[in-house]
Amino acid sequence: MAKLTFAQRVLEWFAHSGRHHLPWQDHPDAYRVWISEIMLQQTQVNTVIPYFQTFMAQYPNVAALAKAPQDEVLHLWTGLGYYARARNLHRCAQIVQEQHHGEFPDTVEGLLALPGIGRSTAGAILSLGMGIRAPILDGNVKRVLCRYHAIEGWPDQPSVQKLLWPIAEAATPKIHVADYTQAMMDLGATLCTRSKPACERCPLSRSCQALVSNRVEELPHRKPKKKLPRRSTYMLMCCNAKGEVLLEQRPAAGIWGGLWSFKEFEAQEDLDTYTRNAFGADIPQMEIWPVVKHTFSHFHLDITPVFIMAHPSPVAVMEPKPQLCYPLHSMHSDSEHAVGLAAPVKALLAQLQRRLANTPASPI
Ligand code: ADE
Repeated sequence: MAKLTFAQRVLEWFAHSGRHHLPWQDHPDAYRVWISEIMLQQTQVNTVIPYFQTFMAQYPNVAALAKAPQDEVLHLWTGLGYYARARNLHRCAQIVQEQHHGEFPDTVEGLLALPGIGRSTAGAILSLGMGIRAPILDGNVKRVLCRYHAIEGWPDQPSVQKLLWPIAEAATPKIHVADYTQAMMDLGATLCTRSKPACERCPLSRSCQALVSNRVEELPHRKPKKKLPRRSTYMLMCCNAKGEVLLEQRPAAGIWGGLWSFKEFEAQEDLDTYTRNAFGADIPQMEIWPVVKHTFSHFHLDITPVFIMAHPSPVAVMEPKPQLCYPLHSMHSDSEHAVGLAAPVKALLAQLQRRLANTPASPI
């Protein structure tokens, strides 16, 4: 019998051991695949599934997403990580709707011109959503190919990517391209894992160069770690007797762009000055809560939350950012107050809700 090709071995394995019932595999199209891919860039399959289902119920097609208010989209994204992705997603839907009559382009170049779509996501949309032959190279696939060809270096290194794209291109079959793409992702996610890969069950094991040379644990190399700087901030959680808390909207550019957060201060003196100016002689008592740690890709942030029960409300001073009195009881509802919240802010709001439930609604 003729030797099976790389793709044939992968496809044969996929038929019995791949994943066939993920929600985005149910009547796949470019829109569903695109949403799932962007979500899966942020976190794992099990976390994504409920977000994907809620998203599809709310925005079943590109037209529905394009006309949704940005705050509502960011709200549904809360907990999924990087909001820049959600903002790009929303903008992308508007461009597809307005400039492409609601249909995704069917070429890599056309998809790459859209915000938030990189080469691998373009390949996934074409292959999984439209059955068009196009390679992908996500983290899982890079690991499989780096091991199979015993490539030195770490997968995101530009020189390694340069080697991998033509390899991925050559390995992608002309037929069954959607199954092949899903199979490669599944192989990476379920067998060819970073640690303790299940080589004994792998359809590629006989010709895997890393396995043959006993370097499976070593390859692909890990990216050398750099130490992240640490920054700190004070967040003023200013509540009133009606159970509302003062939030303000972050500038569109930068960390948590467009999301709602507490008023922030670099130093406690700045927070003290603000409360003195805002409340005059009636400065409410402050409660300083334990530090909350949050890590971004480029730095660690230590947040010191400061709670005050404000009565009366702060004197309106010239405020450069949009503000809102956010009713704590609306956190779990789909009310008009459904706004995008940064993850630590969301957690602090839940703590505040518990804190207020244990306190009579009078000022401290
Ligand atoms: N990660 C990225 N895309 C995926 C997919 N289609 N299925 C499972 N995991 C993935």
